[in-house]
Amino acid sequence: MKEQLQALQKEALDKIQTVEGSQGLQDVKVAYLGKKGSLTGILRGMGKLSAEERPVVGEIANQVRQAITEAIEEKQDQLEQVAMEQKLAKEAIDVTLPGRPVNVGGKHLLTQMIEDIEDLFIGMGFEVREGPEVETDYFNFEALNLPKDHPARDMQDSFYITNELLLRTHTSPVQARTMREYEGQKPVKMICPGKVYRRDTDDATHSHQFTQIEGLYVDKNVRMSDLKGVLDTFAKHMFGEDRDIRLRPSFFPFTEPSVEMDISCKMCDGKGCSVCKQSGWIEILGAGMVHPKVLEMAGYDPSVYTGFAFGMGPDRIAMLKYGISDIRHFYINDKRFLTQYHQA
Ligand code: PHE
Repeated sequence: MKEQLQALQKEALDKIQTVEGSQGLQDVKVAYLGKKGSLTGILRGMGKLSAEERPVVGEIANQVRQAITEAIEEKQDQLEQVAMEQKLAKEAIDVTLPGRPVNVGGKHLLTQMIEDIEDLFIGMGFEVREGPEVETDYFNFEALNLPKDHPARDMQDSFYITNELLLRTHTSPVQARTMREYEGQKPVKMICPGKVYRRDTDDATHSHQFTQIEGLYVDKNVRMSDLKGVLDTFAKHMFGEDRDIRLRPSFFPFTEPSVEMDISCKMCDGKGCSVCKQSGWIEILGAGMVHPKVLEMAGYDPSVYTGFAFGMGPDRIAMLKYGISDIRHFYINDKRFLTQYHQA
């Protein structure tokens, strides 16, 4: 029996040496040490041994079991080690390879313009507000002193959704909305940037969707000179300290008096060139003193409150500032155009 056990040990250790994979090892373990395994089989025959032989053989059997168990554990460790090494080799990263370029995005030029203008006006105490792009006929027109069938509605060809709903044609409805929210009690000092829509055929200077920034300042004793000061600050910030502004009489139903603001042409320094059509001046925005009717409709007493309003187009301002000749560049989203204006 002793020889049998030793032969078994040798056989098992040989197998463990050569076995492949942990499943194979598991099979070997079951084959020798399992309930139906060879060692167990031999031990079953111990009952036939004499009382003196039994402890001797028992001890050998234990040694054999221990030797096999240890060999299996050792092999298991080896297999795990090999598996780990293979995994590491497979996942190895070559840190010397050149990196892949990362495409970093940037802000759209119009976003940059709007944020710059927002910063300037926030610095002058204006708050930044928003309003809906799908607007009611009431806020887009009526509350701005443009009753139904008023001929001046034709100044802004509109996309109607229903009889009473349209895509806003300007950011001016936010004037009326803000005043209404303030209930005729508090001063209003806000700007509102956003998208606007007009039924125009797209060409180099027209886009059916473009951007505007509205400005509104309502308080006691707001005067036209306040408007001029604010606009002058804006023009110099945007186009340089050496620019002059001039206000020309104009017409908007929601302001009285109404003006258009020009800046002196930077190309020719006001002498006249093709950019300013020989006039020396370039039109930038529309503005005026808020019409008493507009104040009244929004709940402000025009004998107590006065105000100014202006509306400017960041598209047009960006085109002038950067010499961009086609408004469609802003909306085609060609990266070759947009990335030229990305800031580091
Ligand atoms: N809403 C006018 C437009 O889109 C611009 C404007 C705003 C004029 C505010 C005067 C005051 O043409």
